[in-house]
Amino acid sequence: MCGIVGYVGDREAGEVLVKGLKRLEYRGYDSAGVAIMNGRMSIQKGKGKVVNLEKGIFANGLKGHIGIGHTRWATHGEPNDVNSHPHMSQSGNIAVVHNGIIENYTSLKKKLIERGRTFSSQTDTEIIAQLLEEIYTTSKDVTFEQAIQLTLKQIVGTYGLAIVNIEFPDKIFIARKGSPLLLGVGENEMFIASDASPIVEYTNKVVYLDDGEMAVVDKYSYEVKTIDDIALTKEVHELAISIDAIEKAGYPHFMLKEIFEQPRSIADCMRGRVNVKENTIQLGGIADVMEELVNAKRIVIAACGTSWHSGLVGEYLFEHLAKTPVEVEYASEFRYRDPLIGEGDVMLVISQSGETADTLAALREAKKRGAKVLGICNVVGSTISRETDAGVFTHAGPEIGVASTKAFTAQVVVLTMMALATGMKKGTISKKEAARYIKELSLIPDKVDQILKECDENIKKMASLFTYAPNFLYLGRSYNFPVALEGALKLKEISYIHAEGYPAAEMKHGPIALIDEMMPVVVIAATDHTNDKMISNIEEVRARKGRIISIMNSENSDVKDLSEFSISIPSTVDCFSPLLTVIPLQLLSYYIAVNRGCNVDQPRNLAKSVTVE
Ligand code: UD1
Ligand code: GLU
Ligand code: MG
Repeated sequence: MCGIVGYVGDREAGEVLVKGLKRLEYRGYDSAGVAIMNGRMSIQKGKGKVVNLEKGIFANGLKGHIGIGHTRWATHGEPNDVNSHPHMSQSGNIAVVHNGIIENYTSLKKKLIERGRTFSSQTDTEIIAQLLEEIYTTSKDVTFEQAIQLTLKQIVGTYGLAIVNIEFPDKIFIARKGSPLLLGVGENEMFIASDASPIVEYTNKVVYLDDGEMAVVDKYSYEVKTIDDIALTKEVHELAISIDAIEKAGYPHFMLKEIFEQPRSIADCMRGRVNVKENTIQLGGIADVMEELVNAKRIVIAACGTSWHSGLVGEYLFEHLAKTPVEVEYASEFRYRDPLIGEGDVMLVISQSGETADTLAALREAKKRGAKVLGICNVVGSTISRETDAGVFTHAGPEIGVASTKAFTAQVVVLTMMALATGMKKGTISKKEAARYIKELSLIPDKVDQILKECDENIKKMASLFTYAPNFLYLGRSYNFPVALEGALKLKEISYIHAEGYPAAEMKHGPIALIDEMMPVVVIAATDHTNDKMISNIEEVRARKGRIISIMNSENSDVKDLSEFSISIPSTVDCFSPLLTVIPLQLLSYYIAVNRGCNVDQPRNLAKSVTVE
């Protein structure tokens, strides 16, 4: 995910672009750049925040009234100066900024290299500039617009694109498929952006581009058509929304936005990796160390907080699917306790930011002792992702809310893909079983979407009844025990209500003493092999007048009958159930925190990336 802006008009383009990029910086912030045309094409770009870009533009006196800009959140190629956008065609005539992923870029790149083109970056984006130039300069009687259409037809993946060509010094070309893009219509000036936040201060008239559409824009007019060249008349919308709300895509908080992004972030995490047709899982990031992973005597997972919870799900997954013994460690404990780890062991470290200090220290300790260390990180270019021997990025997009939501589900998806890939290679799961799992995994984004659509209102209502509960207990078994921990952590973090997560049966060894008619008990009772046992645990709570809130599958009428409130979710195979059951718990904690007037995105005492011990 990244931010795109474009401007054509009478203002100084550099100023409009920088201001717009600052507003979009929440979408990605590892590097930034602009292309400004003024008789020639001037590029300023580099690693780091938009303020660095601003200094560069100023220092180098980039002037002009037309340009495009980008703030990047790397997916392909580490965040460095060369990989920053804009990307140029070989001649330097065409500049492109891109939001999204070109999935077939490797094969296209190979063909273009064979035809003598040299590439300067590791990005997927550069292929667009190069292919476009190749088509435009080698095909007879093809206009630049047609060349864009032909290029887009060869590309597989997602894009929001803004393109300039020095041959057309007053025009910006844009196109969209899967990544948002809109046009701001001003008086003798036009704006382009990924969302309305860079535009609202100049105009309230916007045209939203839909998938499969492109436009040619100059300062006076715009022409929208499909990429099949059918002209369109688009509605001009009037914006009536504050800048603050727009940055959160209309959601009141980043956390809620990120919860609702999960159908997409989970799909992004699997994109190009899970292949349902061929029944394969391909994790390029660990291809070279697959041998070590398959032969590992033991896997040690080290992490903190929510990532530690996803690690626990990972333990169950790996032991079940790949039959590899797993231990899950708090990174902070591991590093200080003379741990037994060495050659033949694989350590897996999990961190959203890739900067978590304790996890980094655990990684270094394990490496020193001879273990192979693999990472699961969200932020490309982060310290942990650089220091690990190999790893898998979660590709969930920037997570801004301090309480982690979409990073958790993406981590669990990566662990699932890793365990499945290992099990398939080891032969601990049959081809037929693998096919069933892969199919089921591919259905998860739609099921998450269904939960968000169907359960949101109910959970909101339920939250208002429990807003002032002083304590909460969360119970789960098997794969949903870590989800109980995660549900309790979410509530503690953002609503400051004391909450505990427990394995349901363990409750009778202590916490049961806390249960009375004031105690809400959230039970995660997805139908699985522990269902009957779970029902007994629910009865134990009811016998002490605890108030049962259940997360359950619709067919599980026994649980429904025993619950004061129940949230019904679609079913899946046992081992993928955490990806669904955690969603209602995220929403529950969110609405309770909002009702209590808490600062949801920046809870007291917490920080997004814990870079201290
Ligand atoms: C990589 C590219 C992706 C491209 C694909 C095509 C990046 C970031 N990813 O994705 O854009 O589509 O190839 O073949 O350029 N790594 C670690 N530690 C971590 C996480 C990752 O060392 O914690 C390493 C991996 O071993 C790998 C690299 O970072 O070398 C990229 O990881 P990942 O994005 O997961 O790999 P691919 O999915 O193959
Ligand atoms: N895939 C492109 C890159 O890695 C664009 C990523 C984005 O949307 O931020 O450079
Ligand atoms: Mg174990």
